[in-house]
Amino acid sequence: MTSTLPSPAPTPAAALSLEGATDLAALTRPDFPLLAQTACLGQPLIYLDHAATSQKPRQVLEALQHYYDHDNANVHRGAHQLSARATEGFEGARAKAAAFIGASSPNEIVFTRNASEAINLVARSWGEANLRPGDEVLLTVMEHHSNLVPWQLLAQRTGCVLRHAGVTPEGSLDLDDLRRQLSERTRLVSLVQVSNTLGCLNPIAEVASLAHGVGALLLVDACQSLPHLPVNVAAIGADFLVGSSHKLCGPTGMGFLWGREALLEAMPPFLGGGEMIQDVYLDHSSWAGLPHKFEAGTPAIGEAIGMGAALDYLNAIGLERIHAWEQQLTAQLFARLQAVEGLTVLGPTPQQQPDRGALAAFHVEGVHAHDIAALLDSAGICIRSGHHCTQPLHRHYGLSASARASLSFTTTPEEIDRFAEELQGAISFLREHS
Ligand code: ALA
Repeated sequence: MTSTLPSPAPTPAAALSLEGATDLAALTRPDFPLLAQTACLGQPLIYLDHAATSQKPRQVLEALQHYYDHDNANVHRGAHQLSARATEGFEGARAKAAAFIGASSPNEIVFTRNASEAINLVARSWGEANLRPGDEVLLTVMEHHSNLVPWQLLAQRTGCVLRHAGVTPEGSLDLDDLRRQLSERTRLVSLVQVSNTLGCLNPIAEVASLAHGVGALLLVDACQSLPHLPVNVAAIGADFLVGSSHKLCGPTGMGFLWGREALLEAMPPFLGGGEMIQDVYLDHSSWAGLPHKFEAGTPAIGEAIGMGAALDYLNAIGLERIHAWEQQLTAQLFARLQAVEGLTVLGPTPQQQPDRGALAAFHVEGVHAHDIAALLDSAGICIRSGHHCTQPLHRHYGLSASARASLSFTTTPEEIDRFAEELQGAISFLREHS
């Protein structure tokens, strides 16, 4: 059985007729060969680590194969037909990324290796050009390390001051604390839209108007929101936004920075080399226009094209429908976890925040997260354990690690039930043998 979702070039994306389909797992699972495998002892593999990286549908794998079979060449350089086709595919992917987030022009999309590099680009380029000693950058304690460390490095270089808004007792962004910490010294607010650990959906439009009210810019880390709900940069009022291909059913090694065109125009280059120049002399150079000014060297061409196919795939399903299906799954996941004695989930419950992200990070009294993950793995179930690149947040809760199950539109209700049963069994076993 194959699904009706689109195939890559040369077949144009088919017009889809998915009216009324709510079980997105049934619709999409045929496209994910990896998810059809059995694990040890012949048990079905259950992948609940989508927040770490998503699986890739065959449409994305075929787009990569098609590119290397038919069009592989360097972009923007050659006069030949292969280069022209590679450039068309590569720039087409940029246009798809722009449309996916409602950017006003593909020139506002800068391709990077990943979202971390995109944040580093802003910290290096915008930060060094604009921040002076005493200027403030406001972050939150729930940030991924990729939205903490680049600013720490910038603070060392410029003398800017870092502040961090806290979390409420339910595990959401403490907006009052954020408000208290904003001042006319704040030059940038940078925060995650959906936390990879708490799963909370932050009120970005409200934060944008607070930030703009004191003259600060807003950077949004959308890695954990873009795969799960519609995001429009104009509607949320962001100035910069970063995303990651591999979280979006696309290849690794690919991410992007979106920035308002006027901001990107005014920023100096990040890395130097080929592609990003207009004219080079022995002692000085001038820069290419946007977005190429920020893309030194041969880019990740196949990966960009693969990401474009992934965005087509997500669009064909529909982000609204993905969000609705995953909300049902998340409610089921929480109901099962809340029934486990001694288990605490980090972040707001679906009752407290119905729009929350489709993941649950949790800890269990007297049981280590790594032991839970190892026992589940032996039952064919893949979850993440550790600090999920949010050490300061874990420290805030007095934890060194948590276990995390993260879902996608491919997840089935049966998988959540099986996960919950195996989890209960693993906890009982670990308690008995501790
Ligand atoms: N940031 C990714 C995660 O949350 C790697 O697992």
